[in-house]
Amino acid sequence: MNMNRLFITLFATCILSPGLFAQKTLQLDVSQKGAEIAPTMWGVFFEDINLGADGGIYAELVKNRSFEFFKPWMGWERKHKTFVEGQLQIKNQPDRPSNPRYLSVQLNNNGKGDLGLVNEGFRGMGLKKDLTYDFSVLYRVKKGSFKLHIELLNEKNEVVGSGESREISGGSLGWEKLEVSFKSGQTVPKGKMALWFTGNGEVDFDLISLFPTDTWKGRKGGMRADMIQMLADMKPGFIRFPGGCIVEGFDLDNRYQWKKTIGPIEDRQLIMNRWNIEFPHRAAPDYFQTFGLGFFEYFQLAEDIRAEPLPILNCGMACQFNSAELVELDDLGPYVQDALDLIEFANGDASTAWGKERVKMGHPEPFHLKFIGVGNENWGPQYIERLEVFRKAIKEKYPEIKIVASSGTTTEGDRFDLLDKELRKMKIDIIDEHAYKAPSWLLQNAARYDNYDRQGPEIFVGEWAAHTRNTGSDINVNNWLAALSESAFMTGLERNGDVVRLTSYAPLFAHVDGWQWSPDLIWLDNLNIYGTPSYYVQKQFSTHRGTHLLKVTENGKPLAGQENVYASAVWDEAAKEIILKITNTADTPVKHELQLSGLKKVPAKAALSRMVSDNPEAMNSVKEPLKVAPQESEVSLDSKKKKLVLDLPGRSFSVYKIRTAN
Ligand code: AHR
Repeated sequence: MNMNRLFITLFATCILSPGLFAQKTLQLDVSQKGAEIAPTMWGVFFEDINLGADGGIYAELVKNRSFEFFKPWMGWERKHKTFVEGQLQIKNQPDRPSNPRYLSVQLNNNGKGDLGLVNEGFRGMGLKKDLTYDFSVLYRVKKGSFKLHIELLNEKNEVVGSGESREISGGSLGWEKLEVSFKSGQTVPKGKMALWFTGNGEVDFDLISLFPTDTWKGRKGGMRADMIQMLADMKPGFIRFPGGCIVEGFDLDNRYQWKKTIGPIEDRQLIMNRWNIEFPHRAAPDYFQTFGLGFFEYFQLAEDIRAEPLPILNCGMACQFNSAELVELDDLGPYVQDALDLIEFANGDASTAWGKERVKMGHPEPFHLKFIGVGNENWGPQYIERLEVFRKAIKEKYPEIKIVASSGTTTEGDRFDLLDKELRKMKIDIIDEHAYKAPSWLLQNAARYDNYDRQGPEIFVGEWAAHTRNTGSDINVNNWLAALSESAFMTGLERNGDVVRLTSYAPLFAHVDGWQWSPDLIWLDNLNIYGTPSYYVQKQFSTHRGTHLLKVTENGKPLAGQENVYASAVWDEAAKEIILKITNTADTPVKHELQLSGLKKVPAKAALSRMVSDNPEAMNSVKEPLKVAPQESEVSLDSKKKKLVLDLPGRSFSVYKIRTAN
């Protein structure tokens, strides 16, 4: 028996004991509406991990486009037969620290095909038949003239699309942009781009770029539309960015600095992505952050998908699992200023220094920032000391902005206890809890928030997921077992929607050929994308958020795992709808009855959206993207007796929608 099977068998024996229990009557009184559910209740967490940004959502196809990786030729293959026809050299311009390297080409040839470069893409380039591709490059002609010939190649190195620039001559010393667009004649999962130089003279090149034109909203140099669509479909209440550990950095130099991620892309200074070296067994030596997806684009993305932007900033501490480098309290000024300036960048008008920067980038309207996170998974008294400096400064200038603070890396233990106590003492607005846990933990903790202090800070379950093997291990998989336990836990989050005001699964995206961390919500390759069973569970909650809490009980008690059943309910004011979410984790069916009260009339039909599989190991894939996904149907109610029979198959998660008015 492999470990996978052993774990599932143990899990099934210990937790999922047979569901052959007597039929129960559950009560739901619609006249007893509870607290309003926060519009931010179900959100998404974005981090550039697993090729989430570069090589993922940022649709650039050229890897190392400005030759700024540690190894400047990484991703490029040089093609030249003799030095007579020309030379390719990397040169340095020290007066431009944000983009010091460029390519210098000495040319002495008259035909295409001998002097050039081939770029391999991130894990190859996904090319689509008949789609137009935009090539661009910055150039300056030192002397003579040149012409570029660009080719798209398939896996056999056959040319599947090409374009040619006009001949360019002249002695301009400044950088200019050259653009050429052309189509691919084939769909290629792992293509490449070749670039051939012809002419006589000396020319510099930088920022060699290739974008598909089918980006989100057709924006030039924009984002991969299929990835954003998956997010938009979830109707998330917020988007947290840019992480995660990349906020903290391996050391302070490697931390995320938002000011370096806005403005012209050629001036956004690249850094190594900390996931490049974090897991030696999943090393990604070519993983860098070019910041083509920077803070302006994050805010724009939030606006596009109607999610509240939730940026998290470094608090003067590098990752405590890595260097744990600290900024002295006396030197924290620039870090705090970054937070204040970010609020101004998002919300200030053109008369403010940072508001002006946003306006310059093409967004005169504010982004309506309401939240700011200070620190990711930081802990210890040193975190509290630094947070207090931020808190004071932010609240003095922007009392309306809610501050999100870290409670460390997990949900219990000394570190958590200290932070939880101190954050409550400090009356911080929102506490960010992280829970990467075994499915059994999620089931046992479905009632975790039932006794949280309703007068204290709001709770943001900011990073969490079921880890099917060892927590943190890279052999965790996105199977139905994981998603089912997540649905059970989420009924507990929803039931406590008066104190849990934001939640997000993490991480969000993973490239099948370039991931560091598993499980992840959405997987992709260069051309395809699919949601995991966990994605569909998240989507079921976020697209059925409702407006007010309702109580669903059995003998006056919430359903938090009694006989393997977990349930929560909400009221949707606009649709005049009761939404019941109910999970049966047993491997056998359960039949319960729902008794409705507080309603004059009960309809004859209800809509049912159900996820079910008798195989806890079932997973979605590029080939079978919807193997475990919601199935829609209709069920009958007894309108007279105001009853609904809940026939819950083994290992199922069901969403019942009872519309009480036409
Ligand atoms: O989601 C992956 C990582 O998990 C995040 O970067 C970090 O915050 C957590 O440890």
